[in-house]
Amino acid sequence: MKNTLDEEYEVRNVSFEPFAADDAEDAERLFHETVHAVNARDYSLPQLDAWAPCEETQRQKIIERLRRQESIAARECGILVGFETLCEDGVDMLYVHKDRQGQGIARRILLELERMAAERGGADIVVFASITARPFFGKMGYNLDCMNAAVRNGVILANCLMSRRLAPGSAMRKISGNSGS
Ligand SMILES: CC(C)(COP(=O)(O)OP(=O)(O)OC[C@H]1O[C@@H](n2cnc3c(N)ncnc32)[C@H](O)[C@@H]1OP(=O)(O)O)[C@@H](O)C(=O)NCCC(=O)NCCS
Repeated sequence: MKNTLDEEYEVRNVSFEPFAADDAEDAERLFHETVHAVNARDYSLPQLDAWAPCEETQRQKIIERLRRQESIAARECGILVGFETLCEDGVDMLYVHKDRQGQGIARRILLELERMAAERGGADIVVFASITARPFFGKMGYNLDCMNAAVRNGVILANCLMSRRLAPGSAMRKISGNSGS
């Protein structure tokens, strides 16, 4: 399994850095499109609509939440191609652009989060992974702790509680600016 930043990746000319408050609208759009395109293979339309609502007021609420959260953005030529938001125990949201799936972007974002967690002395990273994202997190060394059911806008969405123990002293090399490989 590739799990250090020193290895060669397919990601080229992609920068990884915190996103600014005015990236929140782009992030919400990416989130919305990715859920409705990529997660559609595992969830029904009512579930997708509950997860990434089309209604404007609800979309604004997500934008406001994104503005407040600690985050890592992946940008290519200045365009947002993926992002992750952090919560106390680990990953909150992790979404890659629907047209940039399978190109190593989420791997890089997650490694950056793990580096930050290790620097802060965190022992475990926890994520409520979607059914769609479960194989990705499995590849990244996360174990399935249990299946879970979340309720969004009154609709039940199955997800997977997954976690990974960070090796003691596993602080990783910091990704800087345009860290292409
Ligand atoms: C899950 C997600 C973030 C993965 O992003 P990605 O950039 O496509 O993933 P990567 O290209 O970095 O994949 C890293 C590794 O995981 C593997 N992987 C990723 N998705 C996979 C899948 N569905 N099935 C099997 N393997 C998968 C890749 O093959 C790669 O392994 P490799 O290095 O051996 O080739 C992306 O599919 C996504 O946005 N999904 C929809 C949103 C979602 O469900 N988010 C999670 C909410 S918690």
